[in-house]
Amino acid sequence: MGWNTWNKFGCQINETVIRQAVDAMVSSGMKDAGYEYIVIDDCWQSGRDAKGQIVADPKRFPSGMSALGDYIHSQGLKFGIYSDAGKLTCGKRPGSLGHEYQDARTYASWGVDYLKYDWCSTYTQDAKSTYETMSDALRASGRPIVFSICEWGLNKPWLWGETIGNLWRTTDDIYDHWQGKHGFEHGVMDILDLQVGLEGRAGPGHWNDPDMLEVGNGKMTLEEYKSHFSLWAVLAAPLMAGNDLAAMTPDIKAILTNKEVIAIDQDPLGVEASRVAKQGDYEVWARPLKGGGRAIVLLNRSSASHTITATWNDLHLPSSLSLKVRDLWAHKDLPGAKGSFSAEVPSHGVVMVRLD
Ligand code: GLA
Repeated sequence: MGWNTWNKFGCQINETVIRQAVDAMVSSGMKDAGYEYIVIDDCWQSGRDAKGQIVADPKRFPSGMSALGDYIHSQGLKFGIYSDAGKLTCGKRPGSLGHEYQDARTYASWGVDYLKYDWCSTYTQDAKSTYETMSDALRASGRPIVFSICEWGLNKPWLWGETIGNLWRTTDDIYDHWQGKHGFEHGVMDILDLQVGLEGRAGPGHWNDPDMLEVGNGKMTLEEYKSHFSLWAVLAAPLMAGNDLAAMTPDIKAILTNKEVIAIDQDPLGVEASRVAKQGDYEVWARPLKGGGRAIVLLNRSSASHTITATWNDLHLPSSLSLKVRDLWAHKDLPGAKGSFSAEVPSHGVVMVRLD
């Protein structure tokens, strides 16, 4: 769990933006809710020096990366950074190709705890061996660094990423939109559809990454942001907030810090949800939890509210079983259920419950 600059700030980043995010992470309660990594995405680099060492843009980061890392650590948070497996990053800054060990040593010397490693300008490079090289370089640096494989699912990283990295993007980029593709960018529902069938690949220490959160970036409704967050939680997704933490409204904060939903995301069993039922626009997603419970998301993609039912049959449970029902958004216990659970779900909304 953490925060990343890209979805809100793109290339418009500097050390003030990062320090404000750090401060807001702490003062808003996001840190207490479990968010930990502050990740500086693309565009922090300006070039390489005579020794080939990567240099942070001196205008945007005049205090340097080591000082920024110290500040992040001083607030009890962890420091993430971004590079690319090719010659140039997606934002046309220097990538790490040919400098993998040197860059890994530099990051370690700055106190970096997390590396997101992108896939622009890689042409004919082999994905697995390319990510293996940086993974080996990070290990050789002597500092434990979480490795985020960002090759957009092109070479099925879920088949080879487990021993190389800790998370891998499964798709192209998300954008702040409910449904519909726009070039490389995918709406939340488009990304969701692409997760079906990958659920068996995720587990503790190696996660499917359906990309970072757009919650709070302003182009979706609160109902849609709630759905986005609930679905990412049942998907056991990395929860990387991507909004302006320093300017968050109470409604958005309430979504991002819903501890009952976060507890589902972080459930120690580490099993990702599958879509157990789909009838047109109405879907049921179910995630097994440690201790035998289930997290259920009823999703209504249609433009009108609708009653959706999760049957015990869909959940592979005996229909005679009586279960306790906890509503994770209303924060209250509902009447127990036997054989099925039904609820009225708003348009583009979810009902998220825990069954025990
Ligand atoms: C790619 C990645 C994004 C972001 C940008 C930065 O598009 O998928 O998440 O890192 O590059 O340029």
